[in-house]
Amino acid sequence: MYLQRRNRILRNNASIRNMVAETVLTPADFIAPLFIDEGEHISYEIPSMPGYYRHSLDNTIKEVKTLWSMGIKSTLLFIKCNDEWKDNTGKEAWNENGLMQRSIKAIKDAVPEMIIMTDVALDPYSEYGHDGIVKEGKIVNDETVDALVKMSVSHAAAGADFVAPSDMMDGRIGAIRKALEENNFTHTGIMAYSAKYASCFYGPFRDALDSAPGFGDKKTYQMNYANRIEAIKETITDIEEGADIVMVKPAMAYLDIIREVKNAVTVPVSAYHVSGEYAMIKAAAKMGWLDEPKAIIESLTAIKRAGADLIATYFAKDAAGMLT
Ligand code: PBG
Repeated sequence: MYLQRRNRILRNNASIRNMVAETVLTPADFIAPLFIDEGEHISYEIPSMPGYYRHSLDNTIKEVKTLWSMGIKSTLLFIKCNDEWKDNTGKEAWNENGLMQRSIKAIKDAVPEMIIMTDVALDPYSEYGHDGIVKEGKIVNDETVDALVKMSVSHAAAGADFVAPSDMMDGRIGAIRKALEENNFTHTGIMAYSAKYASCFYGPFRDALDSAPGFGDKKTYQMNYANRIEAIKETITDIEEGADIVMVKPAMAYLDIIREVKNAVTVPVSAYHVSGEYAMIKAAAKMGWLDEPKAIIESLTAIKRAGADLIATYFAKDAAGMLT
């Protein structure tokens, strides 16, 4: 058979395949989420996230050193707030001696070059488990934004490199940027969770932080997963308001959104490979139904191929270990 073009030539062996690979993962692509709790010498395995832990601050610092030694450059911090400090204002969120603020400082001291991003939303601090302040059964936008601004400024003051608002309130990026400017935090970046969908795939995360909504759901602020164009609208709004990096979340079921956002913007795009996506791979692997390392690398490569410049993933350490 005479063929003018034989496409299989470029798939002939591993060397050729690697030479022409369009997408190559590196540990610097990953953002490692970290769950931090009070106490000492504690590493609690999250039941719905096997192999993933909520650490006390001392153990978190050990973990950050390990991550850094593996080539991971960025962490995203979440804290678990004690129940007695939760209320409907979220005020523990901007306590300058709060666990988040202490954690930022301690991690910066221990590994100064590690990028620290911090989750900004009220849910871990809210007695209702909602991302905002609740009035008459509704999540009120503008008062919530005022709280998020205080929270962001306190993270910047503690030394966070990026604040990462994950709440989906209107106008929060502009308000946070303005407050950072006014307080002279001109080096603090904003990674906006811009296209964050109301997703069942956050279930295990809410176990990790004990932050499940006490009533209703998050559909009046997080996006409807039926929508695509709305993701562009949300993302463009955040960029106009001053976001440095934008995010699509979740990742695997939203690869089309990642690509559309990537094509529409000129800032870096991140994607959050969320807790439920982690749990699915772990569960199938435990049953012997999937090859875990292969499932991890294929998933992360697909997310990057879709257009993610950065990937927040609970597999950051596993993947970095496989890549080096
Ligand atoms: C809080 C927040 C959530 C996640 C990140 N920040 C949960 C939620 O919005 O309910 C989910 C992360 C994950 O599932 O891995 N605003």
